[in-house]
Amino acid sequence: MTTETANIVILTGAGISAESGLGTFRDKDGLWTKYNLEDVATPEGFARNPELVQNFYNARRENCLNAEPNAAHFALARLEADHRGDVLIVTQNVDDLHERAGSKSVWHMHGQLNRALCANCSNRWDAPKVMDVSHPCPSCGVPAARPDVVWFGEMPYLMEDIETRLATADLFVSIGTSGSVYPAAGFALEAKTAGAECLELNLEPSDTPGSFDDSRFGPATKIVPQWVTEILAPK
Ligand code: OAD
Repeated sequence: MTTETANIVILTGAGISAESGLGTFRDKDGLWTKYNLEDVATPEGFARNPELVQNFYNARRENCLNAEPNAAHFALARLEADHRGDVLIVTQNVDDLHERAGSKSVWHMHGQLNRALCANCSNRWDAPKVMDVSHPCPSCGVPAARPDVVWFGEMPYLMEDIETRLATADLFVSIGTSGSVYPAAGFALEAKTAGAECLELNLEPSDTPGSFDDSRFGPATKIVPQWVTEILAPK
């Protein structure tokens, strides 16, 4: 493998979208300091109080619609366009800022705010700006619409495909994630065990020490474009 043709798998988390104005979860003022995740991010919370959950995601959807991709999102899109090897982004983020920056190969393992899921028949469709649990599913007609996001206690999407790509990655890069939530938090070690070089780009060290061969710390809008420039023009 040479850097020019490396197969690259990139895991992104809330930190990459922080400078676009979308909050993170566990930083000071993060979403989980203001909301109880059991209330708004579990199937049990949705069963108890669907309106509260819909309101939480409606507010996040609105924030996302008002946000713009930042230099880190654009740098990853440039990497995908110009790099000779494969570039896959596996994101834990439910925003669509990677796609709006131009990335094509993006897998949303925790779902997407702009999609709706029928809790009755599992049909999916584009979410309206404001979702209501009384909205009928366009397929089965049952009023059981929920955001198409993965909640705690549910299986993240595309896990088998992700495992396959981790097993064949030459370079694994973790960007803007605290490494607090599995299975994503285990990806670096999996990729490393399978032979990949592992790099961490984050504001501060994540909770997965020992998984990375190299780490760079700073705001994503600075360190991600710098890293992409290095990969595309190796010395
Ligand atoms: P966290 O809030 O746990 O972590 C965000 C990480 O981003 C932290 O390590 C910060 O240091 C870093 N960070 C903050 N600002 C940054 C910046 N400007 N540049 C670079 N890094 C920055 O968010 P996630 O790791 O994404 O899941 O959280 C993982 C999952 O936990 C989420 O997908 C969500 C949440 O509960 C579900 O809701 C299922």
